[in-house]
Amino acid sequence: MLVNDLKHLAFIMDGNGRWAQRQNKKRSNGHNKGAKNARTITEYCVKIGIKYLTLYAFSTENWKRPKIEIEFLMKLLIKFLKKELKTLQKNNIKFDTIGDISRFSKPLQQAVLHVKKETSQCTGMTQILAINYGSRDEITRAVNRAIKKGKKVDEQDISNLLDTSNFPDIDLLIRTGGDQRLSNFLLWQNAYAELFFTNTLWPDFSIGELETILSKYRTTSRRFGAL
Ligand code: FPP
Repeated sequence: MLVNDLKHLAFIMDGNGRWAQRQNKKRSNGHNKGAKNARTITEYCVKIGIKYLTLYAFSTENWKRPKIEIEFLMKLLIKFLKKELKTLQKNNIKFDTIGDISRFSKPLQQAVLHVKKETSQCTGMTQILAINYGSRDEITRAVNRAIKKGKKVDEQDISNLLDTSNFPDIDLLIRTGGDQRLSNFLLWQNAYAELFFTNTLWPDFSIGELETILSKYRTTSRRFGAL
């Protein structure tokens, strides 16, 4: 299925922990499975012609989790980036991030910069990993940049000051895991996004379910406030 009118798709990949707990496994198993699924969904998205795919992998609020889980997620991110590079290059996918990566360890920061550099010439799709990302943090950083410039800003200026300045607004946001909230994710950029919530836990979210959501999305009339 070719999706022409969907430029930017975003996911809140929720439910890894519950997926693992339901099978009496450690939460880390759920995150491993979740990372694999991120790869599967990414490869599908590039195939159907989506130009930008944003994945919420670690929020500014996730630092409140137990230290052991944070450490696991940091290791997983490094592992994911190392493995992902081949997948990205094979599929002509450019890699980018949003969020403040300065809080991460040097090896993780270096891994991010390495994958960005090695995929900078890819043109098929841009995969954007939201890491240490929180919309309020992003907007606060943007406002401070504006203050530094010392002049009045309009909406376009704000868009240009956000981490997402190089990407279009979100067209479709999908959240797995049953909760119906935005959790501080792309509050500005989701202003006119279509929102889909599914009870499916992220590790179980399939290409088939994505196709069903995309079919519904394509029948939605998007008026952006006009008639
Ligand atoms: C939500 O599950 C998921 C996260 C906190 C992080 C998302 C991480 C992944 C999908 C794995 C890593 C992915 C990449 C791309 C490296 P949860 O722990 O909140 O699940 P729960 O709501 O069931 O507890």
